[in-house]
Amino acid sequence: MTTILVTGGAGYIGSHTTILLIEAGYEVILFDNFSNASKESIKRVEKIVEQNITLIDGNVCSSEDLDTVFTHHSIDAVIHFAGLKAVGESVEKPLKYYENNISGTITLCKSMAKYGCKSIIFSSSATVYGDPHTTPILEDFPLSATNPYGRSKLFVEEILRDTYMADNDWNIILLRYFNPVGAHPSGTIGEDPNDVPNNLMPFIAQTAVGKRAFLSIFGNDYNTKDGTGVRDYIHVMDLAEGHVKALNIIHSLNQVITINLGTGTGYSVLDMVKSFEKASGRTISYKIAPRRTGDIASCFADPHYAKEILNWEAKYDIDAMCEDTWRWQSNNPNGYKAL
Ligand code: UD1
Repeated sequence: MTTILVTGGAGYIGSHTTILLIEAGYEVILFDNFSNASKESIKRVEKIVEQNITLIDGNVCSSEDLDTVFTHHSIDAVIHFAGLKAVGESVEKPLKYYENNISGTITLCKSMAKYGCKSIIFSSSATVYGDPHTTPILEDFPLSATNPYGRSKLFVEEILRDTYMADNDWNIILLRYFNPVGAHPSGTIGEDPNDVPNNLMPFIAQTAVGKRAFLSIFGNDYNTKDGTGVRDYIHVMDLAEGHVKALNIIHSLNQVITINLGTGTGYSVLDMVKSFEKASGRTISYKIAPRRTGDIASCFADPHYAKEILNWEAKYDIDAMCEDTWRWQSNNPNGYKAL
């Protein structure tokens, strides 16, 4: 059986990917320090897949914790989700972000090399395209970053490219996610942000469920169809499937490749509000607020390379994204803390 180490496996994307990996017949070793995730998510994943999952409570910045993994398990490939992701916090605490996201990846790769495992899938982000000169966005567009979070993704991409250049035995896939939303169709696992959410969908969902009085829409004077920001929202189950497809090719790769994971369709903030109202049967109150610093007008993927190389394309539409988010949010208004 092929064994996959999933760092950050208790988090939003990691937990959904773990389900599809197990359903595809992989053995998963889940590694997480629970700094921004709950053990409850793993219990629920175990219920969905009807089996126990090997869980290691550890930090990717700790070579000792990683030694524990690699000495006890023969790992064939790593999917590296572990990292911090709040843009605002990254501006306030850049060293925390560079330490976790960059040093963590370096420590992980050194351990991998030490134990002879040289296949890694890395969670990158469309944030590395900065403010794209045009859309849809192709993988070879110029890269830039406007905050420490984005720079940490950009630097790790470069570090992994250098790692391959120095040792062609590595197989490296950099997956650039667009805007992950949605939840497992069971409604038992989903995104559970700490405190105030950073992203649009949790805000909409929390407004619909009554946890927030209204949604602030950050600007309605962008050069887009209705003036609000346009993004490529992608269902987390589609994103998870992209990782399974990436694993299918990784061992024959002997390269570094970079792949956009998006749907190719951009939706505005108002499109998302309307679709969520339909899915939830609730009215979402909103107010137009000033633009958020650092936001761009429009961002959506050209997903053709993913189709060509992975035979992957997004299947879930905007209605499914909103319906699944609503099922999760309405069944778990306080996320995993409800129990
Ligand atoms: C944000 C991050 C980006 C990260 C990505 C992935 C910023 C500036 N960028 O991107 O680095 O990779 O998440 O999770 O934080 N919006 C509102 N009201 C809200 C929240 C958002 O109107 O309360 C709007 C935004 O202006 C934007 C859209 O909704 O037009 C999506 O916002 P968000 O979910 O934060 O994602 P990004 O800005 O694309």
